[in-house]
Amino acid sequence: MSKSSEYLESLFGLTGQVAVVIGGAGALGKSLSTGIGKAGAKIVVADMSEEACQSRVEQLAQEGIDATYVTLDVTSLESQQNARDESLKVTGKVDMLVNCAGINVGNNFLEVDSSQWDKILAVNLKGTMLSCQVFIESMLKTGGGSILNIGSVNSDKPLSRVFAYAASKAAVVNLTQNIAQEFAANNIRVNAICPGFFPAEQNRKILDAERVENIMRGTPMKRYGNPDELIGAALLLLSKNSGSYITGSIVYVDGGFTCSWF
Ligand SMILES: NC(=O)c1ccc[n+]([C@@H]2O[C@H](COP(=O)([O-])OP(=O)(O)OC[C@H]3O[C@@H](n4cnc5c(N)ncnc54)[C@H](O)[C@@H]3O)[C@@H](O)[C@H]2O)c1
Repeated sequence: MSKSSEYLESLFGLTGQVAVVIGGAGALGKSLSTGIGKAGAKIVVADMSEEACQSRVEQLAQEGIDATYVTLDVTSLESQQNARDESLKVTGKVDMLVNCAGINVGNNFLEVDSSQWDKILAVNLKGTMLSCQVFIESMLKTGGGSILNIGSVNSDKPLSRVFAYAASKAAVVNLTQNIAQEFAANNIRVNAICPGFFPAEQNRKILDAERVENIMRGTPMKRYGNPDELIGAALLLLSKNSGSYITGSIVYVDGGFTCSWF
């Protein structure tokens, strides 16, 4: 290994560690699990559909990444506990948790119905809270760990027509910082990435022509993100070496969307 490879490995390498990627069969979860796996970690793909998880594990194996899967519904405490226990049975420990499950629906404010509101808040916010709770319990027993939550540019600026989603993502950032301060002394770091616009299944359906024009006008880089562009930030925050003094941080990966005004 060259000196520079050795140095980069010492900063960002994740060899010997285990990462559970919840929502690991989704667009961003796929890129993140590949990136974290290529940095050396064993991956547990956690998602709703067994078929999607299996297929994701096969793809990871083809890339030379050691991976397994568990199915779960993030809105259920029991399901989260089972997923953690099943993961621990196979891997013995969980060093890293990535909370990448999420749903979204776009409509006018007067059309927001309470069951839709509850569902979005249940997956995006309660799901993140439950998995943090459940996996922190095991991290406390194994000496610490690192959690990466996923917010959004909606966490900062309330974008139009996604009221429940924006509220859930603002709360995910608040929760991230709150849990970070609570467990900092226990060697558990909790950070979040707020992605800009990375067209995927859940947001493609709300991208009409007017919205695309607004997004491009508001994004100084004038393009969408590619999910692989989240990997560098994720490794920085997750690695216990590069991220050793980073907790409660919110990193925007958004082509400049959040910093732009006009
Ligand atoms: N794609 C973007 O532009 C973008 C931007 C900002 C934030 N995000 C956030 O990033 C995360 C990933 O988004 P994505 O674009 O990959 O979306 P995606 O729809 O491709 O993936 C989301 C995954 O979450 C899983 N999921 C949904 N409900 C679940 C539940 N109850 N239990 C377990 N798993 C469940 C889905 O099965 C899916 O695999 C989400 O939190 C999303 O809000 C995405």
